[in-house]
Amino acid sequence: LTKFDGLELPASADFHVHLRDGNMMKAVVPTVRQGGVNTVYVMPNLVPPLTSASDALAYKQRLREEDPNINYLMTLYLHEKITPAVVKGAKVQGVVGIKSYPAGVTTNSSSGVLDYEVFYPVFRAMEQCGMVLNLHGECPSDHGKNITILNAESSFLPTLKSLHAQFPKLKIVLEHCTTREAVEAVNECGPNVVGTITAHHLYLVVDDWADDPFCYCKPVAKWPSDREALIKAAVSGTGKFFFGSDSAPHPITAKKGGRGKTAAGVFTQPYCTQLVLGAFEQAIERKVITEDEVTEEILTGFLGGYGRKFYGITDSSNEKIVLWKGDEVIQESFTGEGVEVVPFRRGQSTWSVSW
Ligand code: NCD
Ligand code: DOR
Ligand code: ZN
Ligand code: ZN
Repeated sequence: LTKFDGLELPASADFHVHLRDGNMMKAVVPTVRQGGVNTVYVMPNLVPPLTSASDALAYKQRLREEDPNINYLMTLYLHEKITPAVVKGAKVQGVVGIKSYPAGVTTNSSSGVLDYEVFYPVFRAMEQCGMVLNLHGECPSDHGKNITILNAESSFLPTLKSLHAQFPKLKIVLEHCTTREAVEAVNECGPNVVGTITAHHLYLVVDDWADDPFCYCKPVAKWPSDREALIKAAVSGTGKFFFGSDSAPHPITAKKGGRGKTAAGVFTQPYCTQLVLGAFEQAIERKVITEDEVTEEILTGFLGGYGRKFYGITDSSNEKIVLWKGDEVIQESFTGEGVEVVPFRRGQSTWSVSW
């Protein structure tokens, strides 16, 4: 993709980030703009989760203290505390969406959803006031039903379809799509249903995370054919799929401590835009797509344009970034007070971004 060397683009928007709190937040927020991003859609899975507009706004204030030059779009965590009245109040206070986590599926999801039907009144309120529903689309593992982390996403797709059928005007994002079936399901739904795609799922397959905790996340990366379906969706130019990194930093000790379970999450924030370009290049090398298919229009759409349009957000700053290919290498780790976090593809060469 040497045709993009020196290209000026609108700053990227990342429609799915985990910025954490406390010392991890202080380490991670400064890496957002390093990744070419000026707009982030912030996940609510703190401990405890963000379940009220006042929680979300207080968190937004803490984020702004770390970097005021980022547009933070806030979400709430779908939870029994969220009622139709909470939804309407949160909308008025500028909260953009609500993320649903199936109980027990991933990091800090112990207070997640067991039964979607009990939330139908909440979804109806969201549909009425134009709040977005962000779905972590996985069913909890259930060995009696033959569900494991490998088919957790495809097992969830009937739920996506039925939510869309029940609430056709509700804007729904199937977050971090990882399978060909998920891409197909999103395409089969109307224009109110879209999907986000991460950078790391454009690189990874099962073999990669099987022996590397820094490639392990939920949903897990699947088959090569799934990865290629994601690449094709990302360059389809339909506006149905856009970038959400799901950058999910965990302290290095939670990744390779060897005690207890390995935390799920891949940290891509400092190299978000750069990694997407690198993934398209590798896909061109694998002959999954051609260089001509990655036009400037499609690249800018995927990296922010399509998402901004879906969410109805304009970037009044008009900030630009420049992509270039030098000899930059991905840092081994990022540190803050008492925390160290290892980025995806550490030590490997990367595209560069300047402002
Ligand atoms: C924290 C993390 O992983 O840095 N998680 C979070 O804020 N969602 C650690 C924690 O508080 O569990
Ligand atoms: O891998 C993941 N990590 N997937 C998620 O959905 C949550 C995230 C996290 O918060 O660490
Ligand atoms: Zn998720
Ligand atoms: Zn996430």
